[in-house]
Amino acid sequence: MKPEIYIKDLSKHVGKEVTLKGWLYNKRASKKVKFLILRDGTGYLQCVVFVGNVTDEVFALADNVSQETAFEVTGIIKEDTRQVGGFELDATDVKLIGESEDYPITPKDHGIEFLIDNRHLWLRSKRQVAIMKIRHRIAKSIRDFFDSRDFTLFDPPIITPNASEGTSTLFEMEYFDLGKAYLTQSGQLYAEAGAMALGKVYTFGPTFRAEKSKTRRHLTEFWMVEPEMAFYNLDDDMDLAEEMLEYIVKSVLKDNKAELEILERDISKLEKIERPFPRLSYSDAIEMLKEEGHDVEWGKDLGAADETIISSKYDKPVMVHRYPAESKAFYMKRDPENEKLALCVDVLAPEGYGEIIGGSQREDDYNKLLGRINEHKLPVDFFKWYLDLRKYGSVPHSGFGLGLERTVTWICGIDHLRETIPFPRMIYRNTP
Ligand code: 4AD
Ligand code: MG
Repeated sequence: MKPEIYIKDLSKHVGKEVTLKGWLYNKRASKKVKFLILRDGTGYLQCVVFVGNVTDEVFALADNVSQETAFEVTGIIKEDTRQVGGFELDATDVKLIGESEDYPITPKDHGIEFLIDNRHLWLRSKRQVAIMKIRHRIAKSIRDFFDSRDFTLFDPPIITPNASEGTSTLFEMEYFDLGKAYLTQSGQLYAEAGAMALGKVYTFGPTFRAEKSKTRRHLTEFWMVEPEMAFYNLDDDMDLAEEMLEYIVKSVLKDNKAELEILERDISKLEKIERPFPRLSYSDAIEMLKEEGHDVEWGKDLGAADETIISSKYDKPVMVHRYPAESKAFYMKRDPENEKLALCVDVLAPEGYGEIIGGSQREDDYNKLLGRINEHKLPVDFFKWYLDLRKYGSVPHSGFGLGLERTVTWICGIDHLRETIPFPRMIYRNTP
């Protein structure tokens, strides 16, 4: 039953007869010949059904197949450089597998709401297939990167008793007789326990934020990779982030040329992503914004507009470090040279894509961390285990979180996160 050959492997079958299975992507027709564009998830192939080469029934079927009809086609593979993919099939037989009547997404333009309502079908379009393939490549390159550097994949819980990234974006649930529980905002706190056990770990999974804002950069469910390393300081952390980003971009450039072309991505922009990346302190970033006449105040986190201005100065990701501690999470270590600053970094993608990574060196002193937990009015009881990590063999350690969808959005050069995850979840949408 399963296909023996896929479109991506056709170069091995030139001049031979093959049978392929898939769906009708598009069709052109004249009286004597029907051109059926087959898609099978690995590529697209023009199948030429000529009236003299097939039975009358088969020719009638080729005439009737409609968009997204599933079918099987047999014929000889010819090299044809004019065609997408470089091949064409001269059909000798066509068999119907599954009909498709009135497929809702036609080649004409549809509004975005209509497309998202039909996300389960929209995923079949050329552009969406290209984005999903790049997403897959990015996820795989991330795993390859860490796996080949002695990191252990470490899976944190999804259901957690407390916040890690501030209480304003928590998704709440009733957890049996134990009161409230929350969907995880980040695996980091657990990854820290992992780093103390295994040295270098990374988490990679879904995370949740009840983001009340309707922006193109926010999903309520998104995937994050979070490496955490014992004995790394902030500089080591930034070096790793930089090396990882370069590796990801190079992997996509190597393996996804065809997909980047479908997306009309300006590849020259990606080719510039090479180490070293510019590093800029938060205070210098504020100075830079002020010099440009922007109304900014030292002390506040940078907004999306500020990030766009900063990143537009460079053609590489820029690493902004040492933000005012007040504007950042409770677990960040303070800069010994200036207690007002946190030893943290945000990496801003070029071309105005904004923050893709947030990371920091973690507070490793028991009493200081306890003080922060209290200052932030967090429930100390739930952090007892986290404080233990500072009680039994505490060491300097650091890590960061890379948002997968933001990274895919940037590398694909598209303008909204909703196309980078199979079924996006946003404040106003949880279907299909
Ligand atoms: O900067 P954030 O909040 O950092 C953390 O969660 C740390 N615990 C990470 C760590 O140090 N281990 O989030 C990290 C990244 C952001 O830079 C962004 O790329 C992504 O996660 N992100 C989102 N992506 C999509 N939708 C949202 N609502 C996101 N919020 C954060
Ligand atoms: Mg952040």
